Formats: sequence, structure tokens, C-alpha cells
Amino acid sequence: MEKNPWRDQFPQLTGKDDAFLDSAASSLKPLSVIAAVDHYYHDLSVNIHRGMYASSYEATRLYEEARAKVAAFIHAEEEEIVFLRGATAALNLVASSYGAAMLGPGDEIVVSELEHHSSFLPWQAVAAKTGARLVFVPLDPDYRITVENVRKVITTKTKVVALTYVSNVMGYVTPMRDVIALAHAVGAVVVADAAQAVQHLPIDVKSLDVDFLAFSGHKMLGPTGIGVLYGKAALLAAMEPVEFGGEMIDEVNKDRSSWKDAPFKFEAGTMPIASAIGLGAAVDLLDSIGLSAIEDHVVRIRRYAYTQLKKVEGIVIYNPTADTGVIAFNIEGVHPHDAATFFAEQHVSLRAGHHCAQLLIKALGIEACLRASFYLYNTYADCDRLVAVAKEAVRFFKGVGF
Ligand code: ALA
Repeated sequence: MEKNPWRDQFPQLTGKDDAFLDSAASSLKPLSVIAAVDHYYHDLSVNIHRGMYASSYEATRLYEEARAKVAAFIHAEEEEIVFLRGATAALNLVASSYGAAMLGPGDEIVVSELEHHSSFLPWQAVAAKTGARLVFVPLDPDYRITVENVRKVITTKTKVVALTYVSNVMGYVTPMRDVIALAHAVGAVVVADAAQAVQHLPIDVKSLDVDFLAFSGHKMLGPTGIGVLYGKAALLAAMEPVEFGGEMIDEVNKDRSSWKDAPFKFEAGTMPIASAIGLGAAVDLLDSIGLSAIEDHVVRIRRYAYTQLKKVEGIVIYNPTADTGVIAFNIEGVHPHDAATFFAEQHVSLRAGHHCAQLLIKALGIEACLRASFYLYNTYADCDRLVAVAKEAVRFFKGVGF
């Protein structure tokens, strides 16, 4: 049996004979992240940026060190990294602050049917408020975003291009560099939903020239409750906060108040300190392993699983050409929730449903699907289990009549 070099670092897998294939929903958490969170709670447990005593200085140092690690990970400046609750909060901040201030009637926001709800609903809401119009990139026959199709919808009316960097259902990588060039040629800003990208692709925001980029900690080995908004310094400087309170202020007066500079003006109230520190440890681990080693592994095992799964009669796969570690599929004639329950009983953990991407599910002409997603700790044995249980499921549901 193959030895996975990273698996031992994930205590959630110890002593279990389960195939965990739902990392696109949330990755497992390594010992180093758990230890960093534990260190904060066990030894510090105090607030940051406020206390004039040693443990508060140390908690502040660790929190700001985590910001520096995240900044270095995507080649940003520290002041361009805003800590928020997750990618959803980050995308909402851009729409409700930048979008609400900059958009008006006649302006266009380019989106796609491939979007996770978090990359679509904030723009739908801001369009309704401002009179701006949503324009959809037509997807190609594989349901991909292509440069040619983005070119068709970008006009001088385009002010924002809000697209997924990697689809959470299809595992397609958007040709972001070319999309950004097209958007910038008409003066539009690009908001990239990188929630499924940062854990797979090396991202250099400077060389990419992306304007905003959002991601969550918990899909990249970090804790829940922490996410990141990267924004170009000049854009963040011009944006108003949407949450007020606590230490985000510069000065408070009865008639009007002023805010700190970015990123602090966007971090109102007590922040998820432990989660931010844990995210710093996650970045350390991703850096030490290297994203290219991780992605080589993910792509290899996804290809292995796909090659076996597509041979199983009764299985329909929606993303044969995925670029990264996702297989979206169904058992013909079986509701994916029933199928997922069958898989769970056989110790295969999958996600079933619309995957918070209802526009795509509707475009595919289905009600829902199963999704197997892979990450560094998965093995060929996990893939074999997936395929074996898929075969059993087809037999079982045929037996009960479909
Ligand atoms: N957005 C996460 C997923 O795709 C939760 O499963």
C-alpha cells in the first residue's frame, strides 16, 4: 500500500478506515494548526491591539505575524490583507462597500453561472440597490469560463468582473490572467473568488494584477471562522467600512468619526484571534510542503479515481476535464442524497446537493449531484474505496428499482 507522506499530520484520520472526500467543503486540520490554536487559548487567551501587558503584546504579535505570512503566501503587502470571517464575508465586503459606492444605473457587473452563491448573491443584491446590471459570461459546452466568452461580454459599461478562480463543483480553473487584462482594458476591477484556488494554485497577486481576491482559511488546512480579503492598497484606502465598532476607529466624536487605515478599519470588534494564528500555521505547512507537490498529488489521484469511476455503468460524470481535485457525478436515476447516505454507510464521505452553486446545477439540467473532492492526505486506497462503493451503490439501487 502506498505511503502518503502527509497523512500522519492529520489526527482526524488516525485509526479510521474512512475515505474522506469532502475537502472542497472544508479541509482536515493538521497537528501544527491545532497546536497553534491551542497555544493561543492555553497560554494567552487575551485580546489583541488593546492590552498593555505581555500576553496581549504576544497575542498581537502572533496575529500580525499570521497576516504577514498570508501576505507573503500570495505576494501581497501586509496592509492589503484584511482578516474577515471567511471568503463569503470578504466578497460581501467588496460588493457592499466598493460596489455600492462605485456602481450606478447603466453600469454592468460581469458574473457567471459557475459562481458559488457567495460570489454571486452579493452582486445581485448590489445590482438591485444601485441599478447596475448583471451580465453573464456564456459558459462553453463543458460549462467553463473561457477568455473568448469573457471578451464577448466585457464592454465600456463593465465596472466589475466578479468570477470564481476555481469552480467548487467542476474544478475548472478560470483563465484569470487574461480575464484581468480584458477587464483592465475597459477600466473595470476584477474580484476573484479564490476559496477553491489558494489551496491548489500558487497565487501572486502582484503579477496577476488582480484587484480583489477572497479566500477562507478552513479550506487551506486552517481553522474555521477566518478568511481573507486581499485588495490593492489604493482600492482598500478608498473604501468605507461596512461594520463599525471597537478598535477600527481613529477618533470618535458626537457628530462624526474617523477610521484607522486599512486593513484595521475593516476589522471591527474582537477578531477570531486563534483562527488567524492557526491560519498562519496552515500557511507555514503549505509553504513547507509546496503547493506544486500538493497539486501534483491531487491531480494524479483525481485522474486515477476518474479513470476507474467512468467505467462504472450507471455513473454519470459532469466534469471529465476538471483541472483540479473534484469529481461531480450522479448515479443515474438515484437522488444524490440517497446515494450519499449509501456512501456514508460504507465509510466514504462525499458532499451531495447543489453545492451552493444553484445556477450551475440548473445550467447542467439536474437537481443536485454528488461531489468527491481530493486533497493532499487522500490516497489511491481512498479512490479504490470510492469506486468499489459506487459499484455497490449501482447494484443496490437497481435492486430497489429505479
Ligand atoms: N463552499 C463549500 C463547498 O463547495 C462549502 O462545499
